[in-house]
Amino acid sequence: MNLDKCEILTLPRINDPRGNLTYVEAGRHIPFDIKRVYYLYDVPGGAERGGHAHKALHQLIIAMSGSFDIHIDDGFGKKTIHMNRSYSGLYICPMIWREIDNFSSGAVCMVLASDFYDEEDYYRNYEKFLADANPGLGIS
Ligand code: TYD
Repeated sequence: MNLDKCEILTLPRINDPRGNLTYVEAGRHIPFDIKRVYYLYDVPGGAERGGHAHKALHQLIIAMSGSFDIHIDDGFGKKTIHMNRSYSGLYICPMIWREIDNFSSGAVCMVLASDFYDEEDYYRNYEKFLADANPGLGIS
């Protein structure tokens, strides 16, 4: 199941009284090469982000600051993960519908992605995603 492949990865942490440090090495700490980094910030209270799936993109989502909830769905099951640690990343494999909400004030959501931005790689319609992710449901 794709949902089982989505897991929290604990990144290396160098604790220091001057402030902690975390780093990410492509292919070592996460199972893909990083081609793009983007982040969500200044998210107003009550806002929802995501609401899409990717056909081939791999991603790692990190709460750099503050917290939020990620809801993931592979067409067979759903799971919600609360993100609130700068050293924890949620790995999301291809073919996962995701929604992100419950952003705390000042939250920063950073995403490491395996490829450049490509609108062709998106499912933005949930029914269409579901039809491809779980053909057994008989949705066309
Ligand atoms: P979208 O993927 O819908 O944001 P989210 O899933 O985080 O809610 O992207 C919002 C807009 O930004 C959309 O017009 C596409 C554009 N965009 C880029 O141009 N490059 C990028 O790397 C990303 C992630 C989005």
